[in-house]
Amino acid sequence: MPPTLILRRPFDAHLHLRDGKVLQAVLGETSRDFAQAIVMPNLVPPIVTWRQAEDYRARIVEAVPRGDRFKPLMTLYLTERTDPDDVAAAHASGLVKAVKLYPAGATTNSSSGVRHLERAMPVLERMAEIGLPLCIHGEVTGAEIDIFDREAVFVETILDPLRRRLPDLKVTMEHVTTADCVDYIKEAPAKLAGSITPHHLIINRNAILAGGIKPHYYCLPVAKRERHRLALRAAATSGDSRFFLGTDSAPHVDSMKECACGCAGVFNATNTLSCLAHVFEQEDALEKLEAFASLHASAWYGVPPADETVTLMRQVDPIGQPGKIETGEGQITLFDPMFPLHWAVQR
Ligand code: NCD
Ligand code: ZN
Repeated sequence: MPPTLILRRPFDAHLHLRDGKVLQAVLGETSRDFAQAIVMPNLVPPIVTWRQAEDYRARIVEAVPRGDRFKPLMTLYLTERTDPDDVAAAHASGLVKAVKLYPAGATTNSSSGVRHLERAMPVLERMAEIGLPLCIHGEVTGAEIDIFDREAVFVETILDPLRRRLPDLKVTMEHVTTADCVDYIKEAPAKLAGSITPHHLIINRNAILAGGIKPHYYCLPVAKRERHRLALRAAATSGDSRFFLGTDSAPHVDSMKECACGCAGVFNATNTLSCLAHVFEQEDALEKLEAFASLHASAWYGVPPADETVTLMRQVDPIGQPGKIETGEGQITLFDPMFPLHWAVQR
């Protein structure tokens, strides 16, 4: 009997599904392995209101391949004009599980995001009252701040003051990429958690820049130095419930990535579980994988974990990988971990 892992069907705490043909093409890559996911609202135009989230959820549910059971958990995109009553009503209805803060200009489709946090305070105060979590893309945007420092500077200059001002606000720091942010989360007394992507557990910044520029490893926050990757691995495999999986699977067609000004995002939904099993095995922590991938985030977002399970088996030969998927709008390249994967999800 080959080594086998059985996990509750996982929970992806940070997923980009897009819309239209791309949604149709990528959704099955997630719903094949995952029971549920927190769906990002950064469409063009963004999902700002309860009504928009309801419509977007219906389009996702409609696109789930026959035979898969998948629950999309919706978020709202925070703007300076967001109505606190609409947010509270969307939360009370059970539809919306979090609100997402994109500092304007920080990443893909963030131009409608928040320029002055002060203007979003009424919404944030209401969220603290009703217990609705804030998901944060934690990077400052100032041109004077080096891109590799943008997360650490955000923690110090925006996150910490915000948490002091609203200690009851539940905050998820999404796609943590630095030891600084890991340490900050570990030291926080409560109400703070962090999601971690599979690719930030595998690559450091050399993957993007050494030996030629490789746009499929470029995402935001950008991968950092090796010591940060090691800190993320330690956090993810520690069993600490404040750290959980958020894939940040972010599909862009190849023509948008392989060009003079390529956009940020790594598409990893297809091989996330194989990559994670590989990483947790390397760290001698396979028994912690279920908590990281399936349990911690469901507890944090107050959603029951899946009843069903997924089985991974370690095979001798490397698993076959598609490399790219077709969308009807162009191909999307799958994350390549640069080593052969041996953990196969049983289908
Ligand atoms: C994401 C996208 O493409 O929507 N890109 C990325 O590099 N991670 C946006 C985001 O989560 O920052
Ligand atoms: Zn993202």
